[in-house]
Amino acid sequence: MQIVLLGPPGAGKGTVATVLAGRTGIRHISTGDLFRAAVKQRSPLGCRVAALLQSGTLVPDSLTIAVVREHLRTMPRESAFILDGFPRTVPQAEALADLADIRAAVELIVPEPEVVRRLSGRRTCSACGATFNVASMPANAARFCSPVQREDDDPTAVRRRLHAYRAQTTPVVEYYRAAGLLRRIDGTATPPAVADRLYAAVSG
Ligand code: AP5
Ligand code: MG
Repeated sequence: MQIVLLGPPGAGKGTVATVLAGRTGIRHISTGDLFRAAVKQRSPLGCRVAALLQSGTLVPDSLTIAVVREHLRTMPRESAFILDGFPRTVPQAEALADLADIRAAVELIVPEPEVVRRLSGRRTCSACGATFNVASMPANAARFCSPVQREDDDPTAVRRRLHAYRAQTTPVVEYYRAAGLLRRIDGTATPPAVADRLYAAVSG
C-alpha cells in the first residue's frame, strides 16, 4: 500500500496518518516533519529551508523531490507508506510516479473556516513531538507535554499556506483524478473515525 494524503493545511493529514500508521504499521512520511527536523538540527538542509517554512512558502521542487528520493531510497521499493504533504505540485507528482507505485491519493475534505480554527488551536510538544489542539487537549498532554505553537501557524503564514494549496496543490488533486486514483473523504469527524474512512477508501 503506497498512498498519498492530500488536503489543505490543518485538514488533519498528520493526525490521521499517525492513527493509521499506529493501527497498521504502515510508514508515515511527512515532508513537513522532515524539513522541521532538519531546521531543528540546523543541518545544511535546515538552513536552506528555515525561512521558507516560517513564512509558509513552498520549498522549491528540485530540493523537495531530492529529499523524498533520498528518503525512499532507504526503504525497500515495495514498502507500504503514506505520504503526508507530498506531492504538493504537479512536477512533484510526476517525479513521484517514477519513485513509487501509488495506489490511491486520498483528499481530506474540511471546510476552510474549520481548518483555520484547527490551526489557530494547534500545539506541538517540543519534547515528544505529539500534536494536539487546545480545544481537545488530553489531560496527560496538559500535564507532561511542553506545548508550543508552530511558527507557520500565525495568521499571515496560514493565509499564504492556504493560497499555496489552492494555487499549487489543487492541480495535484486533478492530476490524481485524471489518473483514476483520487478518493475523497470527509475529514470532519473524530480522528479515529476519519482514519476508518481513510482505511476504507484505500482498501476498497
Ligand atoms: P506541512 O507540515 O506539510 O504543513 P501543512 O500541509 O500546511 O499541513 P499541516 O501540518 O499544517 O496540517 P495537517 O493537515 O497535518 O493537520 P494536523 O494533523 O496537524 O508543511 C509545512 C511547510 O513545509 C510548508 O508550508 C512548506 O514550506 C514545507 N513543505 C512541506 N512539504 C512540502 C512539499 N511537498 N513541497 C514544498 N514545500 C513543502 O491537524 C491540525 C490541527 O487540527 C491539530 O491541532 C489537530 O489536533 C487538529 N485535528 C486534526 N484532525 C482533527 C479532527 N479530525 N477533528 C478535530 N481536530 C483535528
Ligand atoms: Mg501536518
